[in-house]
Amino acid sequence: PDVITVQELSNRMAVRGVDIIKFLMKQGLMMKINDVIDTDTAELVADEFGMAVRRVSESDVEAGFLSDADDAEATTPRPPVVAIMGHVDHGKTSLLDALRTTDVASGEAGGITQHIGAYQVRLPDDQKVTFLDTPGHAAFSAMRARGANVTDIVILVVAADDGVMPQTIEAIQHARAANAPMIVAVNKVDKPGADVTKIVNELLQYEVIAESLGGDTQIIEVSAKEKTNLDGLLEAILLQAEVMDLKADPEHSAEGIVIEAKLDKGRGPVATVLVKRGTLKRGDLVVAGSAFGRVRALLDERNAQLTEAGPSVPVEILGLDSTPSPGDVFAVVENEARARELTEYRERQRREKATGGINQVSLVDMMSKL
Ligand code: GTP
Ligand code: MG
Repeated sequence: PDVITVQELSNRMAVRGVDIIKFLMKQGLMMKINDVIDTDTAELVADEFGMAVRRVSESDVEAGFLSDADDAEATTPRPPVVAIMGHVDHGKTSLLDALRTTDVASGEAGGITQHIGAYQVRLPDDQKVTFLDTPGHAAFSAMRARGANVTDIVILVVAADDGVMPQTIEAIQHARAANAPMIVAVNKVDKPGADVTKIVNELLQYEVIAESLGGDTQIIEVSAKEKTNLDGLLEAILLQAEVMDLKADPEHSAEGIVIEAKLDKGRGPVATVLVKRGTLKRGDLVVAGSAFGRVRALLDERNAQLTEAGPSVPVEILGLDSTPSPGDVFAVVENEARARELTEYRERQRREKATGGINQVSLVDMMSKL
């Protein structure tokens, strides 16, 4: 929305609204105080009154979207980001918990100890996989709506004793819309009523075709409960990731997405973020949604302090002035003035959305000034 109301422009330039309206009239534009004008016109006005317009919404990141940096040009491999989806009770949480234990460090002191919205499993050979802790479908859609497609691969969990259910179908649709390849984990194969063939056939109806039937979907039989074939599932993920050739530029200015956030009594706002590209460092000034602050601490899922976090790394950050929302984009900014500009801009956008129109918002702004 590259528009601004006459009122807002008047406030920002500290020029009377009536003077702006008069000037616009001379240009043949009949405007009232609450009317919106586009950026080009705003520039014209600013110029007339000896000021320059800075287009805050020029880049996507600034407007609260991830930048469309071309990661295809990046040369540094990054771990895949995997989301686990599926029908209620099919075993998503159990599977995540089971996968957590495959971390090579989990047997040692300092294994994954804290429950954060995303965690990274380290595998032998220094390979890593980042798991998103079962994002609700709503959160998944919200991220996608913001262009924040952080999920590379979707693991579709289907209980072997239950089969394809409504939320299984929804998950298939989400994965398709997000253009994320799917791996099917047929879970609970330990159960007496397990029927994998039936599930493979059911999936066919939704054009999810198993490799065994000539399709391109890996279907892996697992039991989260008995921890069987977790290796097979991890192998499938790594294989898929290899095909995708995932890369990111660690030198890029850090940006990513807020996975979850809460207000902690002792620590203040705590946000779990996933770095999409660039490297987030302690001391960086970040804007996350309409929150901002200097990163005071970076903590991983082992509660260990990090000095930096690169692409695909999930971390908890402390130091924000308020609590952002899941799905919000975060980005490192160069200075506080810039940070404030962005948060104000986003806050305004948020209010505009909430009140359903830019005119109403400017009215609210105006009245609060009276
Ligand atoms: P929601 O978060 O409520 O949608 O459920 P979920 O998909 O996270 O399922 P959850 O992991 O909570 O598991 C649901 C039930 O299935 C629990 O009682 C688990 O113990 C059981 N369960 C999960 N995996 C397995 C498995 O591999 N075998 C058996 N027998 N039971 C399992
Ligand atoms: Mg669950």
